[in-house]
Amino acid sequence: MTPIRTDGLTKEFRLGLGRQRVVALDRLNLEVHQGEIFGFLGHNGAGKTTTIKLLLGLLAPTAGQAWILDRPIEDVTIKQQVGFLPEAPYFYEYLTAEEFLTFYGQLFGLGGAPLTKKVEELLEMVALTDARRLQLRKFSKGMLQRIGLAQALINDPALVVLDEPMSGLDPIGRRDVRDIILSLKEEGKTVFFSTHILPDVEMICDRVGILVRGRLRAVGTVQDLVGTSGVASVEMVVAGLTDAGIQEAERQGGKVLRRGAQVLLRLDDPSRVDSLVELVLRSGGRLVSLVPHKRTLEDLFLEQVKAGL
Ligand SMILES: Nc1ncnc2c1ncn2[C@@H]1O[C@H](COP(=O)(O)OP(=O)(O)OP(=O)(O)O)[C@@H](O)[C@H]1O
Ligand SMILES: [Mg+2]
Repeated sequence: MTPIRTDGLTKEFRLGLGRQRVVALDRLNLEVHQGEIFGFLGHNGAGKTTTIKLLLGLLAPTAGQAWILDRPIEDVTIKQQVGFLPEAPYFYEYLTAEEFLTFYGQLFGLGGAPLTKKVEELLEMVALTDARRLQLRKFSKGMLQRIGLAQALINDPALVVLDEPMSGLDPIGRRDVRDIILSLKEEGKTVFFSTHILPDVEMICDRVGILVRGRLRAVGTVQDLVGTSGVASVEMVVAGLTDAGIQEAERQGGKVLRRGAQVLLRLDDPSRVDSLVELVLRSGGRLVSLVPHKRTLEDLFLEQVKAGL
């Protein structure tokens, strides 16, 4: 079974009287595999929410097709098997956490003892058992995000779609959400979430896709995308380098930053490390440290965004 598949999925909006066209999503071809955590990365306005709304049937595509759990997105019965956390969820503030989850469970036709049990389990999972009798209007942002996640899981979905689940959360809140996402994967669920928070993606995603201005620019594991041995630059700290030595290092492409008696040399072309080290030693300098910097997902993301603008 394929949780998500799209073929040339496209959405155009027409704006204002001039009917100016905005292509929010441009011929998206994507396959999300069963049981994986897929991170959908993109800058503001890249088309992440549009994609998610198309997948959930909240918007109709201008062109192309998509399938959720092997069924066309026009088939409303797939909603039974999908959990969804919207970008800006609306909460019935005067309900307690328990009432809120019970209400959503009833929408899915659950009731009685199984629903009570499910609500208890979910409150436990998102660490809100102690707050179960508290009205949502008294919840902090992190607590709201967690109850929103619990709501997305009430129907025990095979596929969970989350639109920016970590946005607006502090580091602890983000870690909580990451842990919940990882536990969903352990239960065998597929998780598709959008974000622009890169470290979160690097930590938990099996694969990522990078969306720039409605176009999918790259898909793969973080390792595939940033390259296994991808050393992007080298920084060395050198002591005792003479002025002439520093000038020569600059001529060889090193960027120099003086730090008291020591000098920080940054080299953006790692293939020149050997000759720079040799130069340092030849000019009477001493190598204090040498640190290779790997290319990160952030480097790649910024490159893709720049290339796509
Ligand atoms: N209903 C709409 N009418 C007109 N244009 C829209 C509509 N919804 C989205 N857009 C446009 O489509 C583009 C993509 O928007 P979308 O909300 O999908 O981006 P996003 O990646 O979710 O951004 P963010 O990170 O800010 O949430 C934007 O240029 C946006 O202005
Ligand atoms: Mg969005």
